[in-house]
Amino acid sequence: MEFSIKSGNPEKLRTDCLVVGVFEGRKLSDSAKHIDTLANKAISEVLKSGDMEGKLASTLVMHHVAGVTATRILLVGLGKQAELTERHFRQAVRASIKALPKGVQNIAFTLTEVSIKKSDIQSKASHLVETTIDATYVVNAIKEKKPEDHPLDKVTVLVEKSETAAAELAVKQGQSIAKGMRLTKDLGNLPPNICTPTYLGEQAKKLAKEYGFKVEVLDKAQIEKLGMGSFLGVAQGSLEPPKLIVLQHNKGKKNQKPVALVGKGITFDTGGISLKPGSDMDEMKYDMCGAASVLGTFKAVGELDLPLNVVGIIPTCDNMPSGNALKPGDVLTSMAGLTIEVLNTDAEGRLILCDALTYAERFEPSAVVDIATLTGACVIALGHHPSGLFSNNDSLAKELLEAGEKSHDRAWQMPLWEEYQSQLDSNFADIANIGGRAGGSITAACFLSRFAKKYDWAHLDIAGTAWKSGKEKGGTGRPVPLLTTFLIQRADKAK
Ligand code: BES
Ligand code: MN
Ligand code: ZN
Repeated sequence: MEFSIKSGNPEKLRTDCLVVGVFEGRKLSDSAKHIDTLANKAISEVLKSGDMEGKLASTLVMHHVAGVTATRILLVGLGKQAELTERHFRQAVRASIKALPKGVQNIAFTLTEVSIKKSDIQSKASHLVETTIDATYVVNAIKEKKPEDHPLDKVTVLVEKSETAAAELAVKQGQSIAKGMRLTKDLGNLPPNICTPTYLGEQAKKLAKEYGFKVEVLDKAQIEKLGMGSFLGVAQGSLEPPKLIVLQHNKGKKNQKPVALVGKGITFDTGGISLKPGSDMDEMKYDMCGAASVLGTFKAVGELDLPLNVVGIIPTCDNMPSGNALKPGDVLTSMAGLTIEVLNTDAEGRLILCDALTYAERFEPSAVVDIATLTGACVIALGHHPSGLFSNNDSLAKELLEAGEKSHDRAWQMPLWEEYQSQLDSNFADIANIGGRAGGSITAACFLSRFAKKYDWAHLDIAGTAWKSGKEKGGTGRPVPLLTTFLIQRADKAK
């Protein structure tokens, strides 16, 4: 999809569809007013008829509007003018895309003209771009007839002349984030017989080639040599060989400490011997969404060529029951030397992440953020809106929370208090891999924290946010917007 920034009169734009905003109470936006005058009150008449009142995300298509070059005008409701937020703005953009008549290939938006509290042209334009691409996503289904791409391929964003430079930068950022989200969604949506650890390794190599990242895909023998007994314990139940993927983008200043992103890459989670119930088990193909979000964020970083050092670390394997599988009661020795009593083989994410967190130490990172579909308990606690955030450093937590707010990919901080740690006590090893039902997402984070003592660390539990169930089943591309925005802000600060 191609985006272009233009300024000038909306009525002169040659486009299949000109998108114009209307506020609740039949109040016209500036562009709507302007066109209304040229078109002998055509818009006012439509509103008077009651067909459209300006309710948020309502839409109406008008044809043959006098005085405008565009083939059609799409009126979109913006809700109450005084209450307009960026969130509403994004909803209106999404509604416009969903309401496009079949086959519309190019559109022009006038919407960035509206004023929104605590927003600016750069924010509005990048949200418009990201939302537009997100709303035109077509699931990469494997069908006899390959799903066609959305027909929309040209989008014009109308801005004031003085806003052009800021809007151009915003388009680049919005597009980069959207491209990263797309990769993350695609990988999540692939079936687990295709999206294996080996496949993820190949995707990482492809990305590295495209953007000039350094890449290593370590195999089982190399992982053994590193002493990752915890990671290998999970992998041993599957015939699919495990991989440890390491990506590096080195465009920061020399000697600048990197940010490390660590992603959980369980390509299928059956639960292992502590087998999950059968219903909806197919959704456990999404248990690699942490890994996919690291790859997606690297794509965005590569597109933006961010002046920053970033490392991506992805432990990836299946969690299967078999004659070789881990058993409840087994004791594993992690790379850090801590021994772990496996009380439940379904708490496998923390077992592969702990060794990856130890591996991260060698990069002397300025911060480590791990991303994982880690616990069902996090979904119970927070639902599907925010990701759960845990951190051993409040200023890092604040940075991530702010990046989440800014990118509309929010996180909510959860406690990581010492009081919870004793739930992980074990009679037979240094630590148990589960801490009972109470505070399940917190004790999972506590487990990880034992392996993240040497650096500033944060953990994002994305079990509730990485994909949607039901009719719109599929990956969401989250938290690529949060992570990319966090890295953009770090790059700005490092300048
Ligand atoms: N991948 C799951 C977490 C999960 C569950 C994500 C449902 C999304 C939806 C994880 O490996 C897991 O099974 N966690 C267990 C931990 C428990 C055994 C302590 C869980 O949440 O039930
Ligand atoms: Mn599990
Ligand atoms: Zn899992």
